[in-house]
Amino acid sequence: MSPEDMKAAAGKAAMAHVRDGMRLGIGSGSTAEAFVAHLAEAVGNGLDIIGVPTSERTARLCVEMGIRLESLDDIVELDLVIDGADEIDPHLNLIKGGGGALLREKIVAHAAKRMIVIADESKLVDKLGRYPLPIEVNGFGIEATRRSVETVARAHGATGEIALRTARKGESLVTDGGHLIIDASFGHISDPQALACALNAIPGVVENGLFLSMAGLAIIAGDAGVRELTVP
Ligand code: A5P
Repeated sequence: MSPEDMKAAAGKAAMAHVRDGMRLGIGSGSTAEAFVAHLAEAVGNGLDIIGVPTSERTARLCVEMGIRLESLDDIVELDLVIDGADEIDPHLNLIKGGGGALLREKIVAHAAKRMIVIADESKLVDKLGRYPLPIEVNGFGIEATRRSVETVARAHGATGEIALRTARKGESLVTDGGHLIIDASFGHISDPQALACALNAIPGVVENGLFLSMAGLAIIAGDAGVRELTVP
């Protein structure tokens, strides 16, 4: 199976958890978009859900595909959120934010009773950190914040390049919330919980891409088919 086929398979399998009447958080990224395609088809066939998107891009896609949306200001509690991930460890702790939507993704996941993560099997890791950790930061004093991240990370045994993410033409990538992203290439993160707390205590840090104890189920597509993983 190609990576696209695996994403489509995971997105399709996630539909088995979507029920009529649900208030549904809808993730961002290519795997979440594969799910949106299946969701739109079901909505076209009469499924009645209200979606809450995790990014402007996902919102535009949902509108184009006829999925009814509300904002989290109008619906404060969601039944379920379905989203992708950049890394998934055996306890279903995640790194997210490769698409730059981590802040809204985390707010939506926190507002949801359940989180299901969908991915191809390349996202499974024994320990988090191979994928650079995205950290959403305020643009003010960005270099001071970057250095604080470096210092705090080192104190938690995490070292590596910490770089401002750029978009087209070398300009800084700006998130839906008007913030910037720095990517921290740590290689491995020995204590994700401690690092997440320490990063969020830095004044310029808005949120980090560690999603810990949030996902209850992972739907993983691979060459052997689709499997479901739960927290051991
Ligand atoms: C978006 O900000 C991310 O959290 C995505 O969920 C993550 O990067 C996975 O994206 P893909 O499904 O495109 O790999």
